[in-house]
Amino acid sequence: MCGIFGYVGIRDDAPQLVLAGLKKLEYRGYDSWGIAAKDNGRVQIEKRVGKIGDAVTTLRPSHVGLGHTRWATHGGVTDANAHPHVDCTGRLAIIHNGIIQNFRELHHDLTARDHTFRSDTDTEVVAHLVEEELENAADGPQRLVLALMAAFRRLTGLNAVAALDVASGHLAAAKSGSPLTLGWTEGGALLASDYSALLEHTREMTFLDEHQAALLTPDGIEVYDVTTGQAITPIVNVVAWKAEAADLAGFPDFMTKEIHEQPDVLRRIAREGVADAEALAHLIEAASETHLVGCGTAAHAALAGQYLLARVAGRRAFFANGSEFGYLERFLGPGALAIALSQSGETIDILDSMRTAKARGVELAALVNVEGSSLYRLADHAILLGAGPERCVLATKSFTAKLGILLLTAHALIGQTAVAQALLERAASEIEALLGDWRRDFIRQIAERIYRQEHLYMIGRGPSYPQALEAALKVKEVSYVHAEGFAGGELKHGVIALIEPGTPCLVLAPDDETRDDVISGAMEVKARGGHIIGVSPRPDPAFDDHIPVADVGEASGLVQAVPGQLLGYYLALLRGHDPDKPRNLAKSVTVK
Ligand code: G6P
Repeated sequence: MCGIFGYVGIRDDAPQLVLAGLKKLEYRGYDSWGIAAKDNGRVQIEKRVGKIGDAVTTLRPSHVGLGHTRWATHGGVTDANAHPHVDCTGRLAIIHNGIIQNFRELHHDLTARDHTFRSDTDTEVVAHLVEEELENAADGPQRLVLALMAAFRRLTGLNAVAALDVASGHLAAAKSGSPLTLGWTEGGALLASDYSALLEHTREMTFLDEHQAALLTPDGIEVYDVTTGQAITPIVNVVAWKAEAADLAGFPDFMTKEIHEQPDVLRRIAREGVADAEALAHLIEAASETHLVGCGTAAHAALAGQYLLARVAGRRAFFANGSEFGYLERFLGPGALAIALSQSGETIDILDSMRTAKARGVELAALVNVEGSSLYRLADHAILLGAGPERCVLATKSFTAKLGILLLTAHALIGQTAVAQALLERAASEIEALLGDWRRDFIRQIAERIYRQEHLYMIGRGPSYPQALEAALKVKEVSYVHAEGFAGGELKHGVIALIEPGTPCLVLAPDDETRDDVISGAMEVKARGGHIIGVSPRPDPAFDDHIPVADVGEASGLVQAVPGQLLGYYLALLRGHDPDKPRNLAKSVTVK
């Protein structure tokens, strides 16, 4: 939920380097930000409420710096509550991602021992705990990490913490549940909560595992087991993503860039995804039952997968939301397969339910975008989406990438991957055309007409039903217009009471067996004054506006997804909102 970035090394521009890193992580939290750096044996701190956007830092040059972008949990959004937090001696600066569940009792005890608190955060207890542990720790180069581990062992909950110590000029970090990646460079060591922020410095990374800690010094990185306090040999991975992939590349924002990357992502899946799809198909064949699980947009991809497997391969798969799957655990057992879908691989609701499933002997496969993420490491079989870094809080290309892999997998089950490859190519070309021709402008004009509306409905049946849910999610996440997606047949069972003259309703009407019925639903809405926006290969008298999209058979969902993305985007712009950083949301939700 929060972004963490740290540097220690030979460069003396640590504050600037940390600021630049935080800007890359802003999507993880953006209500406030802060940086600490060492300055003549003292800690200097700059922290401020608001987005980091175009901020510059006035901190003096330093060889070590640590920063944070916040998504508030404990304590309001104020300068004082922004991280870093300092101890009583002014030697330490602490940042944190997560929730310290036992913070009240720790706070109580620390106050009783005369520590002075300057914020309402749970984080600040760590500063004072490490302060005490430093006093007890034996002198030596490991002193900071030993003290941090001792403090960390006293915390409950899922947390990542990092400390800057001006006395040693070192950084230390520890984690349980929240992601932390370490970057190796010639002249220094780096730390970030998402490795895409490290790419401009290095592709050599160590992903900290649960209950591990690290000491970062100008000479390198040491990794420790928090439970035993023993040093362990770090694993250094060379990651596939390159730095350019994380830049705007001339687009006005990441949402636009990532929407436009979809054709390339789908073509890459068509070209390179067959082996992964076949491996997943084998797992499905061998399993007694298959569960598709995800959260948010990933849940909609999972639901779409349920329809794809049923329609293409005649396979039954069960769908569940990540946050609900765990409640079905008594039905889970060896022989079952869970396929977890997640862009970040860090969503706590999916990680928790997958750990539960794994403990019950369930085989775990994952469709995940971030290599080295917690889900990637937890899964028995991890398949990378290959969508490249997704920086906009709204998921777009990761959604269509998941659909692409599931389409290929469904066809692999019937030995027809070539058919799916051709469909993916056609879907990619159609999305490219839609993004480049008059239709894009037309969707903007529709948005101009409806952006003052308070409610928007989306309907689809069968394989278009998950697309209706996803289109509604896109619109509400980014434009804050109330939008709801429904199975076309459900509308008349209640929701139709909400239709008023002029209420817009997006109708997904592909050329399949759902077309006639979904258009009947549209007519019912129209009869009550609703304004029908048809997304369909063919026109229909029911449509007040018609967004034509090519019929690409079972890949139609990929194309249907794009008008919803564009509609959400234009509605956001028209209503004056930042499409990349919607209010209250975070890209990866690592708290429950
Ligand atoms: C958050 C984001 C959503 C995303 C969901 C799942 O709620 O705001 O856009 O779909 O998490 O994220 P994941 O990384 O697991 O796909």
